[in-house]
Amino acid sequence: MNNEKVLVIDFGGQYNQLIARRVREHNVYCEMYPHTISIERIKELSPIGIIFTGGPNSVYSDGAPRIDKAIFDLGIPVLGICYGCQIIAHTLGGKVEHADKSEYGRREATYDNDSLIFKGLDKKGVCWMSHTDHVVQLPEGFKSTASTDTCNNAAFENAQRKIYGIQYHPEVMHTHQGLDMLKNFLYNVVKAKGDWTMSNFVNRSVAELKAKIGDKKVLCAFSGGVDSAVAATLIHKAVGDQLTCIFVDHGLLRKNEAKEVMKVFKDDMGMNVILADASERFLKKLQGVKDPEKKRKIIGKEFIDVFEIEAKKIGAVDYLVQGTIYPDVIESGLGGSAVIKSHHNVGGLPSVVNFKEIVEPLRDLFKDEVRKVGFELGLPYDVVMRQPFPGPGLAIRVIGNITKKKLAILRDADYIFREEVKLNGLSDKIWQYFAVLTNMRSVGVMGDFRTYDYTLVLRAVTSVDAMTADWARIPDDVLEKISTRIVNEVGHINRVVYDITSKPPATIEWE
Ligand code: XMP
Repeated sequence: MNNEKVLVIDFGGQYNQLIARRVREHNVYCEMYPHTISIERIKELSPIGIIFTGGPNSVYSDGAPRIDKAIFDLGIPVLGICYGCQIIAHTLGGKVEHADKSEYGRREATYDNDSLIFKGLDKKGVCWMSHTDHVVQLPEGFKSTASTDTCNNAAFENAQRKIYGIQYHPEVMHTHQGLDMLKNFLYNVVKAKGDWTMSNFVNRSVAELKAKIGDKKVLCAFSGGVDSAVAATLIHKAVGDQLTCIFVDHGLLRKNEAKEVMKVFKDDMGMNVILADASERFLKKLQGVKDPEKKRKIIGKEFIDVFEIEAKKIGAVDYLVQGTIYPDVIESGLGGSAVIKSHHNVGGLPSVVNFKEIVEPLRDLFKDEVRKVGFELGLPYDVVMRQPFPGPGLAIRVIGNITKKKLAILRDADYIFREEVKLNGLSDKIWQYFAVLTNMRSVGVMGDFRTYDYTLVLRAVTSVDAMTADWARIPDDVLEKISTRIVNEVGHINRVVYDITSKPPATIEWE
């Protein structure tokens, strides 16, 4: 889709996706590929620059990732970070040595401002190191451009051949001016134009979708979540009413959620959204079910059945929309970590729908880019910045068996919690926050009466990817206000507790 492209070649480092995101933050499009990518494929992709990521290996370990020397003869600028810089040195005849001690964390570095990488930046600054091996001898034609107390070759280069190595991590926030160093590589060395902006993306994408879809019909399983909302809105902008969205209300949504979704997408955006109210059906199937995994299975199956009924009413369609985003593509393509959680996918959905092809308009975008596109398309703040919400919804936040009454109690309490978090300006600081209705009752006293009512849990976490999480430090006075409001305004709750466990060992949800 783009003319200008940087390749990020992955050596398995923990910051690999972060590097790619940083490049894009500088308005340069990049794609990530495994280090096994062939020279032919690289030529085909014809990138304007190449970045090697870090990785956990030593260049001397068995099976350590290698790179074809020919990559350096393509005339394309190369920047190697951490392992990426060691593999440059090793491949081009320098010497990498195993240090006795690993070097982790902050180090004061001195930079050579004549280098295009450090041009215009402070001469000294903190950089973030994370390595055991280091480059002790540079390949011929290279010179050192940065050093620390313990590392003579914290950065090095052969400016003529446009090959650059950085031992520390410029992509992490702890490295002072690290982002500027990446920017310098992109603009001083690679000479990028910087045409990757979300408004360009929307224009190009709408034109491409129009050309691809023509006058055909498109169907979208709409959850109200950020990815499906932005994908559908983009397609709507391209083909208007040829897109039909089916929004299944399983009766396990938060307070006012179905109404708000319909207002934004049907009334305000003018999209063709069908609301399938299947609450009674779901609740009936969930009656008496206590086991969380059983709840998930029932909801997953019912969801597909309801979707199928609705889809049949529409008849055959040509395209089915999926909200796949770039991290999903990278993770499957690189065969990488176990980040994808199968329970997050609406398993099997495509097979029940009569369609010819899947369309994934967001498959090149990182999550923060999806949000920017959402704003670009005019979606409201609350939709674009919506916190993650699990597919099974409140079913896994009512512990044990689910009843309408429990759902109503939870909805009201959760609403107050969310309202106070927002009013106190905390929503952007917390990854996910919600209430859980436990199945436990305890004794309390209200006025002159003894009560025997439910205990409600407040759960709020900070996280980057939901794989690990810490409990959010919500100020005491805010917690107090929330607790007071909930016990006063919501019936049948006489005790509010705050969950102070991280993940691991706990999980974010309670079921
Ligand atoms: P846990 O509880 O596993 O949650 O720490 C991690 C993230 O995943 C969400 N989650 C789900 N999302 N279907 C979903 O679509 C599910 O069954 C499900 N279970 C957990 C959870 O809200 C958190 O963001």
